[in-house]
Amino acid sequence: MGNFFVCKMIFCRFMQEIVSNIVAWYLKNARDLPWRNTRNPYSVWLSEVLLQQTRVNQGLPYYEKFIVHFPTIHHLAQASEDEVLKTWQGLGYYSRARNLHKTARIVAESLQGNFPQTPEGLQKLPGLGPYTAAAIASIAFNYPEPVLDGNVARVVSRMLDIHEAVDLPSVKKGMIEWLRGQIAYAEPGTFNQAWMELGALVCLPARPLCDSCPIASWCMARQRGTAEELPVKKAKAKVRERWFHYLHLENENAIWLVQRQAGDIWEGLWEFPMYEAASEKEVPSDWLPKLVADPQQVKISLQRRFTHLLTHQRIHASFWKLSTRPENLRLQQPIFEFPLVQEELPALHRLMDKYLKAN
Ligand code: ADE
Repeated sequence: MGNFFVCKMIFCRFMQEIVSNIVAWYLKNARDLPWRNTRNPYSVWLSEVLLQQTRVNQGLPYYEKFIVHFPTIHHLAQASEDEVLKTWQGLGYYSRARNLHKTARIVAESLQGNFPQTPEGLQKLPGLGPYTAAAIASIAFNYPEPVLDGNVARVVSRMLDIHEAVDLPSVKKGMIEWLRGQIAYAEPGTFNQAWMELGALVCLPARPLCDSCPIASWCMARQRGTAEELPVKKAKAKVRERWFHYLHLENENAIWLVQRQAGDIWEGLWEFPMYEAASEKEVPSDWLPKLVADPQQVKISLQRRFTHLLTHQRIHASFWKLSTRPENLRLQQPIFEFPLVQEELPALHRLMDKYLKAN
């Protein structure tokens, strides 16, 4: 942590200049995004939750879809969970969609539609961590608390040439403290968005555009030629490999789906009946007799294989078309028939969605 102390001493004379440069750059170069034209806490909250999950380009159509489906917090609170999951479909990490819905219900029903205005109050709501809480409090309510998301951490680690892992709590704390010392020099929401935007547009992970950077002359990593090595991150947890075999049964009008249970990925979302193999070695003749009553009569053909990456898991999915009736399957859970019409399907997870779109 000695590094921060030294940096603070060196930088304190320049803080005001750094902030005014970065804010001036932001006001000129910021992307024109719909949630930036409002301070409505509902819009700000929605955009921040979506941007936690995805990049701006991909998040934008989702933001618009949410605003059209659920124009106010009350609309979102009154929606069913399945409607919310369907609107979220494709983004992954469905616990975030469920938290979004829970928060909408709490704010609409217990807080008369008013969001808390401080980071502490906001952090009591489901799904809101320190970063999202600081973003909402600063942008919607002018509360002076810095945001430290991945983009900001990269910019700050380069400014201060930090070679410790930026995801260590002690390092995060030091970076937030450093930003806290500057936030009074600007409007808090503009200050935070300026650092985030600089990370998104200029201080890129690989090949940062230092020649276009408004604060390059104070950047220690630039002076020392270390920008591309930073930020340093802790080693990632090991990825779990899984092998899923999906059974696609359909006729001209219908498909058959089951709902995933609690205690595993994609809780509550829908998919084809599935067999999870213990390794890549298992072939249909190993598992088909466990799943159908009359394996000799059944024709099976491989439609597609996908490798699907989640945060800590790699799913090797094979989709098999089966010439049999759902009554012949031996399943642990109930199976339901759905018409083959996009609007009538329940909320599917992204892998299922990818498969159905590809077929
Ligand atoms: N990432 C998350 N929130 C953001 C915002 N408000 N502006 C730019 N990037 C962001």
